[in-house]
Amino acid sequence: MRIHVVDHPLVAHKLTTLRDERTDSPTFRRLADELVTLLAYEATRDVRTEQVDIRTPVAPTTGVRLSYPRPLVVPILRAGLGMLDGMVRLLPTAEVGFLGMIRDEETLEAKTYATRMPQDLSGRQVYVLDPMLATGGTLVAAINLLIERGADDVTAIVLLAAPEGIEVMERELAGKPVTVVTASVDEGLNENSYIVPGLGDAGDRLYGTA
Ligand code: URA
Repeated sequence: MRIHVVDHPLVAHKLTTLRDERTDSPTFRRLADELVTLLAYEATRDVRTEQVDIRTPVAPTTGVRLSYPRPLVVPILRAGLGMLDGMVRLLPTAEVGFLGMIRDEETLEAKTYATRMPQDLSGRQVYVLDPMLATGGTLVAAINLLIERGADDVTAIVLLAAPEGIEVMERELAGKPVTVVTASVDEGLNENSYIVPGLGDAGDRLYGTA
């Protein structure tokens, strides 16, 4: 597994406002959207392309376009939905699938409650969206499901990551074709598994339920 922390002043600036507890929901939603687009720019550096012949008004030339099969973007419900627009703005031809995951309060394991995506992901590049990589349980379960369906290149785009979650992913997904792209690796998790300093509950802040 590879981890890529996007080091850019615009990313740091937007992230600081996102973290600020005074930032209201509409602003939080807009900034999360902009931040995802910046992260997506880095995350798609290896998106597969093919060569095409075109004509400009002046001369023939060759260029590139995204190749088939199209990349698949999978937001994890609920908070990942707040990242979808920012992602597809950059990849408008991507297919979108949905994954609903919830933590079973007895076993503490992530359980899938909704899946809406192609059964066969052979040869597909997949971009998974989830704002917070905290304990890593949800992302590990989501990525394993995608790989079981045949995905051969999975990139998780997360706004923030905790070292504990990264460690879990590195252990559970060792040797698998997985990359994590994030704006920051924070200090760690508190006793409630919130990222510190973090930004609070991403879903609540996106949807104004705090
Ligand atoms: N999920 C959140 O929304 N925030 C955290 O800090 C951790 C998990």
